[in-house]
Amino acid sequence: MGKSVLVTGGAGLIGSHLVDLLLKEGHRVKVLDNLDPQTHPNGKPPWIPGEVEFIHGDMRSDADVLKALTGVEWVFHQAAFGGFTTALTQYIDVNATGTARIFETIREHRLPVEKIVAASSQAIYGEGLYRCAEHGTFSPAMRPRAQLVLGDWEMRCPQCQQPASPQLTPESSVINGETIYATSKLAEERLTIGLGKLLEIPTVALRYAVTYGPRQSIFNPYTGVVSIFSTRLLNDKAPIIYEDGTQTRDFLFVEDNARANLFVMEHPETAHQVYNVGTQQPIRIADLVNTLADIYGKNIAPEMPGSFRPGDVRHFVHNSEKLMSLGWKPTIDLQEGLRRYVAWIETQQDIRDYFEEAQQRLQALQVVVSR
Ligand SMILES: NC(=O)c1ccc[n+]([C@@H]2O[C@H](COP(=O)([O-])OP(=O)(O)OC[C@H]3O[C@@H](n4cnc5c(N)ncnc54)[C@H](O)[C@@H]3O)[C@@H](O)[C@H]2O)c1
Ligand SMILES: [Zn+2]
Repeated sequence: MGKSVLVTGGAGLIGSHLVDLLLKEGHRVKVLDNLDPQTHPNGKPPWIPGEVEFIHGDMRSDADVLKALTGVEWVFHQAAFGGFTTALTQYIDVNATGTARIFETIREHRLPVEKIVAASSQAIYGEGLYRCAEHGTFSPAMRPRAQLVLGDWEMRCPQCQQPASPQLTPESSVINGETIYATSKLAEERLTIGLGKLLEIPTVALRYAVTYGPRQSIFNPYTGVVSIFSTRLLNDKAPIIYEDGTQTRDFLFVEDNARANLFVMEHPETAHQVYNVGTQQPIRIADLVNTLADIYGKNIAPEMPGSFRPGDVRHFVHNSEKLMSLGWKPTIDLQEGLRRYVAWIETQQDIRDYFEEAQQRLQALQVVVSR
C-alpha cells in the first residue's frame, strides 16, 4: 500500500520530479505550493499531474499548512525562497518560520506524520574545506571584499597566503555560510532535526549540491545557473560569468536528487541525520557554459567582466560518502543531464532573457559588484 505524501514546493524543480517518482512508486501525493511569481510567472505549470491534490497555498499561512498536512504520513519539505535577491525577510519567513510552522501544526493538531525529509543546502557551509600543501586543511570564512575588488579570487592559506586547493567537504565540516539564504536554510535544517527529536518524529535534512534539470524555472534571473546561461545563449547573448570562471561547483541532476529523497525516506537508519547529496565531481563554471554552448550549437563565448557577488563561494564540492555508503548513488553525469535539460528547454515557448534587467538592479543594490 502506498503512503499518503505531502510535497511542499511540489511545483518546483526538485519537488515536481519527486512527485513523479512518488506516483510511479504507487504513493498518493498532495502538493502545497504558492506558485511564487519569480519562479512561476505564468501560474500553475503543466507538469503537475492530474492525480495530485494541488493546494495553492503558502508556507507562511497556518491554514494552508494545516490543510496540506492533514491526512499525510510522509512529508518532503521542498518549498523555499532562494537565490541572490534583496528580499531579506522573505527568506526567514518562508524557510525558517515556514519550517517551524510544519512542526507547530503537527503538534497542535496531533497529526500522525511518520517522517519528514527537508531540503537543506550546500550553501550552509559557505566555503568548504581547503588544503594548503604546507599547512594542511582549513575551513575559511568568506573572502574579504577588499580581496575580491583586486580580482584576487582564490582562497588563500591564512598562514602563508599561498592559494589553497579545495577539498571534498564532509558533513562534519565547519558551517560557515553567512548569506541570508544560507542562514535561513541552516535554521530550516536545525529546526527539522531538533524539532523532529522533540516531537519524536524521524526527520532527515539533505544538503543538496547545485541541482539542475528539466523544469528549472526559465524565468527566474536570481537563481539556477543552467537556466540563466541557457536563456542567454538561446537569445544569442553571451552568458556573463562572475569572477574568472574557474570557480567550481558540484552539479547534481534533478532525478538523482529526487531518488535521494525517497531513499532516505525509506531507510529508517537515516532518522535525525543530515546528509550531503552530490556527485563529488567539481565542475568549473566556464566549462559548464562551454558545454552548454556546444550542446546548443552556439558559437558564443562567455563574458567575464570581473564582476562578483560579495559572499559568493569560490569552490564547493560535497563529500557525499555518508549517503553513498548506505546505497544511494548519482546515475546521470553532467553531459547527459545537460542534454536532457536542453531537450526539455527546446520544447518551451517564449524563452526570454530576464538576466539583463535583473543584473542592473542587482548592481545598483551592490548584490553584484563591478570592479
Ligand atoms: N536547485 C538547487 O540547486 C538547490 C540547491 C540546494 C538546495 N535547494 C533547495 O531545494 C528545494 C527545492 O528547490 P528547487 O531547486 O526545486 O527550487 P524551485 O524554486 O524550483 O522550487 C521551489 C518551489 O517552492 C515554491 N515556494 C516558494 N515559496 C513558497 C511559499 N512561501 N509557500 C509555498 N511554496 C513556496 C515555489 O513556488 C517553487 O515551486 C528548496 O528548499 C531549495 O532551497 C535547491
Ligand atoms: Zn599555508
